[in-house]
Amino acid sequence: MIHIAIFASGSGSNAENLIRYFANHPRVRINLVLSNSPAAFVLERAKNLRVPSLVFSKTDFYGSDTVLKQLQEYRIDRLVLAGFLWLIPENLLAAFPKRIINIHPALLPKYGGRGMYGMHVHRAVVAAAETETGITIHSVDAEYDRGEVIFQARCAVQSGDTPETVAAKVHELEYKYFPEVVEKWTE
Ligand code: GAR
Repeated sequence: MIHIAIFASGSGSNAENLIRYFANHPRVRINLVLSNSPAAFVLERAKNLRVPSLVFSKTDFYGSDTVLKQLQEYRIDRLVLAGFLWLIPENLLAAFPKRIINIHPALLPKYGGRGMYGMHVHRAVVAAAETETGITIHSVDAEYDRGEVIFQARCAVQSGDTPETVAAKVHELEYKYFPEVVEKWTE
């Protein structure tokens, strides 16, 4: 069994979608949800879905091995970032080489990097009058949104689209593809 921990900072609709997809999966299990924010709605979702969750502070994350030890206690093999906004520290990158994956709501390398997350991305896409956007699922390294691309999917941006309608289209792609890509990545 491959044990996965999901990191999320906010709503966690992707986390919930992944948890539901892998419930009763023969090979993959979501064992733990972690968040940097005690107010994140993902914690509520995890509770309702009966997945254990943990909250950590900046000091825990960047100044100690607290999170690494917790991941080891839960025998976690791989990390999935689903709307997680902090850079992954060196101790976790070293402990999970090529075993951390992230989803980004745009076609990287466009609209990536520090500050480019969630609605900020969709606002920038609409402001630039892009005709398409999409999702990128990539391996995680020490920089924001720079790891090797594993998968991309596209959708059209029309002239009447707003950041909100673009966000909805992108979320649809995320819900459709992220679980299958994670599944293949664990093979
Ligand atoms: C998702 O669209 C994800 O791609 C994005 O945050 C959203 C989280 O939604 N991630 C980033 O922007 C990372 N740079 P959710 O909390 O409902 O899953």
